[in-house]
Amino acid sequence: MQIVIDGKTCDAKRGEFLLDIAKRNGIDIPTLCHLDALPGEGNCRMCIVEVLERGRSRVVTSCIYPVKRPVEVLTNTPKIIKMRKTLVMLLASRVPENDMIYQLCEQYDVKPPMRFTKDPTEECILCRLCVRACEEIKLNAISTVNRGITKKISTPFDEPSDTCIGCGACAYVCPTNAIKIHDKNGKRYMWNKSFELLKCEKCGEYFTTRENFEYVNKQLECKEPKILCDKCKKTQAQENLRDIFSTYEM
Ligand code: SF4
Ligand code: FES
Repeated sequence: MQIVIDGKTCDAKRGEFLLDIAKRNGIDIPTLCHLDALPGEGNCRMCIVEVLERGRSRVVTSCIYPVKRPVEVLTNTPKIIKMRKTLVMLLASRVPENDMIYQLCEQYDVKPPMRFTKDPTEECILCRLCVRACEEIKLNAISTVNRGITKKISTPFDEPSDTCIGCGACAYVCPTNAIKIHDKNGKRYMWNKSFELLKCEKCGEYFTTRENFEYVNKQLECKEPKILCDKCKKTQAQENLRDIFSTYEM
């Protein structure tokens, strides 16, 4: 089946999400809560587009809108831009000091409005990417807690989580850099918990927490893992390959 996005004809499979089709065809749709590795959840609504079908227009959330028949899609109409501006304004009122949202305000020519947030240092836009990343690695250390204006992402009762391994996946996927990881003197501090950092046996750099190292090796069923950072692991693998090749040359 074929659909048309911003005048470009694109191949599409039935059930494929509009955002994925657009991305594959080099058409940019802004997103905040999307990661290719995770299914869409439709939380931020920045990816809204207009779908024209049988003479009618509808605004849909492209990351969770599956294509069922040939349609025409417009990603940047005045209506969509106006709606995105409103979304950016709401985000800016929640996280007034966040750099990423500030850049969006500039991009969409939005004046940050009055602050609705109690905490001007708040940087989380509640997109839930961090929670889903943590769920994906089957740790479920964080979740959305509370309701209304006190809604936030945290560990149960804000206590150090039993399941958190300090891997940092939550911080890595966060679009606003709201989750802070502090590495200091061989320790990592995050989510009110401290972790021992491991030093790479080869280069001596701290590279991960002991809990993360053990968890990953358990998943990989690696009985006697070497404590090596990714860079040194790669170098080691190259050296091993070189040794193997040299035996063939002899
Ligand atoms: S901490 Fe970051 S990733 Fe998690 S919900 Fe907030 S903005 Fe999204
Ligand atoms: S990227 Fe689609 S709703 Fe956030």
